[in-house]
Amino acid sequence: MLRSSLRNLNAYKNIKLSPTQRDVIDRLIRVDHAGELGANWIYAGQMYATKKGGAERAAEIELVQHMWDQEKHHLKTFNHLLEDFKVRPTALSPVWIAAGWFMGASTTAMGKESAMACTEAVETVIGEHYDDQIDQLKKFEHLHPDLVKLRQTCEQFRDDELEHLDTAVDHGAQQAPAHALLSAVIGGACKFGVWAAEKV
Ligand SMILES: [Fe+2]
Ligand SMILES: [Fe+2]
Repeated sequence: MLRSSLRNLNAYKNIKLSPTQRDVIDRLIRVDHAGELGANWIYAGQMYATKKGGAERAAEIELVQHMWDQEKHHLKTFNHLLEDFKVRPTALSPVWIAAGWFMGASTTAMGKESAMACTEAVETVIGEHYDDQIDQLKKFEHLHPDLVKLRQTCEQFRDDELEHLDTAVDHGAQQAPAHALLSAVIGGACKFGVWAAEKV
């Protein structure tokens, strides 16, 4: 929807943005694309390890698949947004792919609760990050309807991420062994990822 509207109007390039505003848009789209890429590979790793778990873990497949399907939609949307807003992607894509897959597969291999603790930690950081970005966009979205649509997309995705967070908690995230340690390590890794993806 957003993509076709941008293609039809083809007007974003004509918006007069200050260098600071342009920088906000560049960093927002680059970091969110990187985050959604990493999220997809986390769920790919979770799915791999869940299936490896055999019949005992079969009940988790549908749960992981549902969240993964939403992440696929998020990533596809940000792939289009990179193009439409002429933003270069992060140079660290191979790192997010490898780190995401490893994080998803290793925590899932530790058990369902650890897999859910990973999702809880990731979605907490991502949800807060989307909130910050939405606040920044609201300051100058009046400059163009496409910026309003970008903010609405961020809100929709933020809500999806918070739904994943609730799902993870409902499925035992906080009963994971060493929950506090897992949350701190994974949350810290995600915050570092956000910082790096904005820059590189
Ligand atoms: Fe996502
Ligand atoms: Fe998510």
